[in-house]
Order: sequence, then C-alpha cells, then structure tokens
Amino acid sequence: MATPPQVRCVLACYALLALCSLALVSGQQQNWTFQHGVASGDPLPDRVVLWTRVTWAGAAAPPSDNVELAVEVATSQDFSGELKNYKVTCTSAADWTCKLDAAGLAPAVKYYYRFTAPGGVVSPAGRFHLPYPKGDARQGRVRLAVFSCSNWGWGYFHAYGVAARYELDAWVHLGDFIYEYGPDDYPNAAARQAVRGGLQPAHEILTLADYRQRYALYRTDPSLQALSASTPTIAIWDDHETANNAWKDGFPDAPASQANITDTRRAAGVQAWHEWLPVRPSGGVAAGPSAYSELAINRTMHFGSTLSLFLTEDRLQARSSPPYVNGALYSSAGALGGAVGGVDPSKWGPAEEAKVLAVKAQTDAFAGDPNRTILGKPQVAWLKQQNDDSAAAGVTWQLFAVTTIMQDILPDPSGAVAAAKASGDTANADFWGAVWANCSSSDATVVNGTPTNAAGIHLYSTACYRRPYVGANLKFNLSDRTPGSPTGYGAFAGVVGSCRLLEASARYKVILDFDAWQGFRAERDQLLDIAAESNNAVFIAGDSHVFWASVLKKANGEVVAAEFDVSSVSSVGFEEIFPFMPVDLLAASLVAGGGFRGGLRYANTDRKGFIYLAIDGEKQHADYIGIDDHCTPAGINSSFCMAGFDRFTSLERAKRGLPNDLLRTSCLSEAERVSGTVTAAPSYARAGCSSYNGAKPTVFAFASGSTQVLAEAPRGQSYSVEQCAAAAHAAGTRLFALNPSRTRCLGSKKTSTRKQGLRAGASCSGAGRVQFYKLSRK
Ligand SMILES: [Fe+2]
Repeated sequence: MATPPQVRCVLACYALLALCSLALVSGQQQNWTFQHGVASGDPLPDRVVLWTRVTWAGAAAPPSDNVELAVEVATSQDFSGELKNYKVTCTSAADWTCKLDAAGLAPAVKYYYRFTAPGGVVSPAGRFHLPYPKGDARQGRVRLAVFSCSNWGWGYFHAYGVAARYELDAWVHLGDFIYEYGPDDYPNAAARQAVRGGLQPAHEILTLADYRQRYALYRTDPSLQALSASTPTIAIWDDHETANNAWKDGFPDAPASQANITDTRRAAGVQAWHEWLPVRPSGGVAAGPSAYSELAINRTMHFGSTLSLFLTEDRLQARSSPPYVNGALYSSAGALGGAVGGVDPSKWGPAEEAKVLAVKAQTDAFAGDPNRTILGKPQVAWLKQQNDDSAAAGVTWQLFAVTTIMQDILPDPSGAVAAAKASGDTANADFWGAVWANCSSSDATVVNGTPTNAAGIHLYSTACYRRPYVGANLKFNLSDRTPGSPTGYGAFAGVVGSCRLLEASARYKVILDFDAWQGFRAERDQLLDIAAESNNAVFIAGDSHVFWASVLKKANGEVVAAEFDVSSVSSVGFEEIFPFMPVDLLAASLVAGGGFRGGLRYANTDRKGFIYLAIDGEKQHADYIGIDDHCTPAGINSSFCMAGFDRFTSLERAKRGLPNDLLRTSCLSEAERVSGTVTAAPSYARAGCSSYNGAKPTVFAFASGSTQVLAEAPRGQSYSVEQCAAAAHAAGTRLFALNPSRTRCLGSKKTSTRKQGLRAGASCSGAGRVQFYKLSRK
C-alpha cells in the first residue's frame, strides 16, 4: 500500500522512537511489535481508554496467550515530567488488542502516552486531554471533528489525515468504520471502480476472524493512525460494522444462504468492534432482556458547561425491519418507476397521478407507522433523561449523535430550476432546465457542452471515482428508455426512469429511503420533542455519504434544532446514483425539495471529508471540509472548506436579533483550526529541520520550543505546509514555522537549510516569508 506523504513526518518521529527502543530489546520478546498504532477514547474528566494492538512477529507461536504491557502517561512529550504508570494485559482471546481505562487523570492537561512490550519495544506515542465535568464553566470552547463511512476500496482516508493536524478535543465517528463487502462489491474491482486494492480478507466478512482481519487492515492506514494518536476517539457503529442495512433481527441484503448465521455474524461484528475501537465497555441501556449487553453502546460524553454529547445505538438493539410487501423488500423507487417510468412527465394525467398517490399511500403508511422504531422505548427514555439532566445542569449545548440523517430528502430538480429563475440566475435556470427536460423526456435532445463518454452520454459528476464510468462500464445510458431495464443500477431503472421517479417523488412528496429517520417519523417526532426541551439542540449524523446542513422543525413549524450531517471519508455518494445530473443542479434540487418541513439549507453530494465543529457558549460553528482528491495518495495535499455555518444559542439569537435558523458564514482560517488560537511568536529562533526538494523547496520545519529536532523529512520528498504542520501537531509540537505562500520553505531562522543548499529566492529568514507560530489554546 502506498503511504500518503502527509504522515511520513509522523512516521519518521515514530521511527526514531522505535530505533531508540530497539537498542533495549533482547531475546525473543523483541518479536512483539506495534503495527496498528495507538488510540485513546471515551474521554471522561478523570480517565480515558487507551488502546493499542500487539502483533507477534516471531516465526514460532507467541510464548503465551497473553502479554502484559507497561503503559506510561506523562505530561511531557519526552516522558520526563510527571509520569503515571499502568499495566494492561493483551490476550489472544481479544485478538491481541489491548484496552486500558486509565484513571487518576485531570481535565485540560495535555497528556502523552505509550505502551512498552516485554523486551522493550515501544509503541508510537499518542496524546489527549480530558474534558471538565458536566456543567463546569472552565471548559470553554470544544472542538470536534465528525466522520462517517470509511471504505477501504473507495479511496484514501485523507479526511482523517487532514483532521489529525487540527486542534481537537475529540473526533467522532458516526459509523461505517469498516465495510463488510468483498472485493467485487462496493466498489467492484472488476468494473474498475475500486480505488484502493489489497482488501483483506478478500471476501465478504462473515466470521469473527474475518471481521478482525478487516479491522487490522483498516488500522494500517497511516491517516487513521495519525488521527487516532492525536486526540481521543468517540465512536458508534452504523450498519456496516455488521452488515448492510442491519436491523435488530437481521441483515436484509444478505443472501438467503447466510440467514442461518445472522446471530453469530452479528456477535462477531460486535465483538470485533469492541476489540478494535477504544470504547469503554458498555455503559448504556439495553433494549430488553434478550439484548446483548455489548449492544448498549449508547452513552453520554460531557464537555463541561459547553456541551453534552449523546451517542445513540441505532441498529442492533431495537431497529424495526425494513419494509416488506408480500415477503419482498419494498422499494418506493422501484414502485414509482413502475408507476410512471414509462410516461413523459409532460403527459402525466389522472391515471399516472393515481398510481403515484397509491405508492405514496404505502410509503406514508410505512414511514408513519407509530410502531416503527430505531432506538426503542428504553433508549428514547434514556435519551430524554440525559437531555433533561444536561439542560438542568446548565450545559449550553445538547448534541445528539445519530447514525442516519434526521432530515427528509426529496430532490426537486424542477423546483431548483424555478428557484434559479426566480432569483435571476437565468444561466443556471436555462441550463438546468434543459438538462432536466432532456433527462425525463421521451423526445429529449442531448445537451451539449458537458463531459461525455465514448458513447456520447453526458456525465456530470466531478468526483474522481467517476472515472470507471467512462466507456464500457457506464451504468446509465440515455438511450435506455425502458423502465426496469437491466442496464439500470440498483433500485433505479435507467436514466430516464430515474429522472421520472425523482420528478414524481418531488411533486407528490414520496420518500425514497426508509433506512434513515424519514422512514421512522413517529419516533423522529419524539426526538424532536426531546430536543425542544434542550437548552440548545444540535444533531449530527452520517450514513448518507452527502454533506447536509439543516434546521429541524416540529410539525407545527417550530425550529427545535440544527443538524450538521457529514459526508463519507471515502465511500461513494450521490455522484454514483445520479451521475447524469450536474452536481450543482443535484444540490440545488435537494435544497429546493427541502424535506417535508422545509428545513434543508445546504447539500454537497459528491465530496468526501469531515465536519469541524467549534462550540462555545455563544454558538456552534461548523466548517464543512472537503478533500480535493481521495483517489490518489497525493490528494492529501489539498483540502478546503466548502461552507461554514453558525448556529447561535437562543440567548444570543435574542440578543442579536437573529432568526431561529442556521447562518451561512465564512469558514474559520486554516490556522485557527490547527491551533485554536495562534499567537505569532517571532522571538522563537529555532524551528526544527527541513528537507529540500530540488528546485522547489516545499518542506517544512517544526520544533517543540526547545532546540531539539523532532524529525527530519527525507531528502527528495516534497511536503506542503499543511503536511508539516500536521506532523508538528501530531507530534505534540507547540511551535511551528509556516510560510503562507506555501511555495517556499523553510526551516528556521537559525537552523537554516544551509546544509541542504537552499537556493536563492527561497530564503529562510527573509522577513515576511517565514513566520513562527506558537500554538496555544484559549
Ligand atoms: Fe456508509
């Protein structure tokens, strides 16, 4: 596997540590190695879960079925300061994963930790700091990075690597940490969809050994290792940690031949998740006497008076089955396609309307069924109690973490065209109108000026994954006008049929997806009632592989919460389902549809990335961070903020006369995300090492405030400022040098790059070229 360059600086640091420790190693015990990084998780004011995994590298079997590691937690990066010592036992029964709930710690102290195996082999170092107790006003601003849906085959985990350089109190994974598929499914290697090969095991995972092997593969990803080491993990699972569209009694998409292993497969997925994630053993509320206790992963993390984070279990304890009709899994898309897919929307009459309304009657009945549940009554009651307690303690924000999105999704392309026209955007109105008419009409003509494949089919999606669709592997074909044609993809039947069912969905508000909360309206309204009792409620969700920003409304129109939904780390998004629609038309269509209650404010349907949340006593700010290219290792060099949103507290809204809604704002600066508060400190004279890449010195330097060089990038490697800042951050460095232009490097004032032959025009010490920043937290 190619190693993204962003973390090579970090790995260099780790390599130095490993070299030092190797000198101490003796005998057979040196065969214990650390290949999967370290992680902390579930931070409480006085403790945190510390995690690693040991791998036996010897030719013979390990000397025992368990091994004890020494664990050091220190307040200095070189472990010379205040030091706490712990022990943890790793066993073969737990797949040699090691988990310690390290107690006796204090909030707001920067800690470093590492593991030492018998023989002296030392793990990479990680770091964390802990929150203040619930209601404690010393907490101040909280920074979280939110992720979902990391699929090995669909791309590189650059989103993790970018976030690893930011100043965070924790990172939150909302599920689909792994995917269960084999190499020919999601993505399909044979169809050249796969971005990254080497999937292990090379088949769909079914057994405990399979799940463990898949986690072990994912945990070799350097970006995941960098983020895991840099700040505590807070994780919940979605469906793919077991199997697609999991519900409490099964996996609807699993073939019948696997039905007899549902229970053992679920147990395997759950066990491996607990082994490979730094999650504290269950502290939640089990849904019933038959539930596994390991399933009760619902829990609350408090961050002083700023924030309470409620983590829900959405899949395996209580979730109702997907809808079935006559024993078959019901698809509203298929039903709509059958109803109107063969008729041009311009010719729809009472007969077509009656068919659509019949489908709508079924979808509304499913979605509105008061017995359909995601959380189940015990967990809803628990959530209400947690919310009430947090609000009563004066905590400013109640943050609800769910896996699937709360907002309704109803794409309305005709509405987007009308909105563009109404706003005076005639260029888009004309173009989108032509595209949409072309897409759904039997008499369509091709819209020119957009990318086409060899067959002349227009492809609008701009995501890098789209390359496999060029040529013979194209899934959609405008010439395919037969609803239900086998050339259609998934639930959709050809481009024209897809466009027509979307049109029908938008006109008559027929939902297309029963897996998200829009398929559980009664329980969703219960959650909105709970949120209405919060001091200030916000929801975060993942699963959809699309970025969304919304406000959530009760049936009476009252806005009771904001919702920030994160796209995937790598999994393919709507660009796969709707490659025939320009991405801006698709996004505008979704906003125009707006859900049943008109709360959707933003959509980005094809970018991968994460959401950076900066939360304080006045507002939650959300930066939507996109990755330019998740399909090549070099893509980590380029990330950008696509949109920023503020959600002010009710008190601030009243003070400032603001509407009860999201505010679209500018993004935080990169420097602010990296450091929180950046204080220029030109008096620092030393700043680490650098390397030099021929005529384009792009490397970076960093130091710890001492004269020690922490890591030196190899010659010939090119590093961006962001990469080196990330390395500095991952290493716990409090000082780094930064060249705002990105094009010249640099080193420090004193360590200059003389020995590397810095060239004219790339002066290291020129005023204004290199600035030194001291990182400090507010
Ligand atoms: Fe996913």
